[in-house]
Amino acid sequence: MNMNDIIYKKREGNSLAKEEIEYFINGYVKDEIPDYQASALLMAIYFMQMDKRETFELTNAMRYSGDTIDLSGISGIKVDKHSTGGVGDKTTLIVAPIASACGVPIAKMSGRGLGFTGGTVDKLESIPGFRTSLEPEEFLGQVNDIGISVIGQTAHITPADKKLYALRDVTSTVDNFSLIASSIMSKKLAAGSDAIVLDVKCGNGAFMENLSDATVLGNIMTEIGESAGRKTVAVITDMSQPLGKAIGNSLEVIESIETLKGKGPSDITELAIYLSAVMIYIGGKADSLEEGRLKAEKVLESGEALEKFREMIVAQGGQGEVIDDYSLFPRHSVQKKILAKDSGYVSEIKARNIGLASQHTGAGRATKEDDIDLSAGIYLYKKVGDRVVSGDVLATFYGNDKLKVANAVKEAEKAFIITTKEVECPLLIKKMIGMSDEQKE
Ligand code: URA
Repeated sequence: MNMNDIIYKKREGNSLAKEEIEYFINGYVKDEIPDYQASALLMAIYFMQMDKRETFELTNAMRYSGDTIDLSGISGIKVDKHSTGGVGDKTTLIVAPIASACGVPIAKMSGRGLGFTGGTVDKLESIPGFRTSLEPEEFLGQVNDIGISVIGQTAHITPADKKLYALRDVTSTVDNFSLIASSIMSKKLAAGSDAIVLDVKCGNGAFMENLSDATVLGNIMTEIGESAGRKTVAVITDMSQPLGKAIGNSLEVIESIETLKGKGPSDITELAIYLSAVMIYIGGKADSLEEGRLKAEKVLESGEALEKFREMIVAQGGQGEVIDDYSLFPRHSVQKKILAKDSGYVSEIKARNIGLASQHTGAGRATKEDDIDLSAGIYLYKKVGDRVVSGDVLATFYGNDKLKVANAVKEAEKAFIITTKEVECPLLIKKMIGMSDEQKE
């Protein structure tokens, strides 16, 4: 077997055999296959696609390219949750404590942000002292003790995905169904949970810009999960405008805490309750989705979910006092507002431009090596459908570098569209895949 033949085979539109996929993944991880041949194969896959079998085999080859986590020492149905990536998406910080407070063990590995999308690990690191890197025994021990831990993915899990994702990022081969599905599902399967809830983002701030593409991706990922013996549900949700009002690491943690206090924006609250309900149901802690939703609402109202979040922060070395005192988060020194030029209704807040603007403030990375400013980001005062009067503040930009903040404002000005006609809010939860109609009741 050699790479040249494999690239040729895919370039001509043929299916690759399991052994050929494994040869590529194993050789690439061991640095035996150079980036130029891997790039050529990725581009051939991008144009010629992979079928279901190939995608499943690619997922498995990446899943077993490094360590896999054994969560069998934790009793109960462990439920993982993953978002395909969006702007202002802090849902994990809210659903993980809600589901845990309802008895679902959460042993979750999350990623960092790249480009205009944020990452849970960066957000958690804005909490002073919070450790996102725990040894496996400490991670499992914490889940057994308090029912929740969220950490960063270790270097030893799916190294093939880590290398390939970085290569895809610089070869314009990210947005392909099979490559996205295998990347996400290899990590989820290696991370060991029994059931997986996928939040497939759809809109201009996501890899999948329309509902039909998001549906294809959701179907592929749920089939991979089920074929691997894991209950897998995908929920397709809106990412045409940012989720919630805060974008940027510490700003998003503060908004998550506010949501756990029952004072969050309506969209993030609705999505968090919905995803938590699915997790509680497939985690066996409710007999129906409706019961899952009621349980999620109950622990939000009682403050148990908030206390669970505090417990996790303290267990991982963070300052639990941040829950009551937001001045403990990293501080910004520069702040700038943009104002509405016209009166009318907000018809669009393009998530992609806001994500890029947030990256410009210093909140996101352009390359994996970049440092980020944990205090930087954007706070939106208006959402799609809101009425505005000329001169109203649309958003405030935060950071520690005047030039960066000015660049962010320039980018974000393209994001807001104001019309004279009244506008309806986009539908937040668009579709669910992987549950029968009966189960959805
Ligand atoms: N998130 C991932 O982990 N991988 C992708 O390919 C896209 C989004």
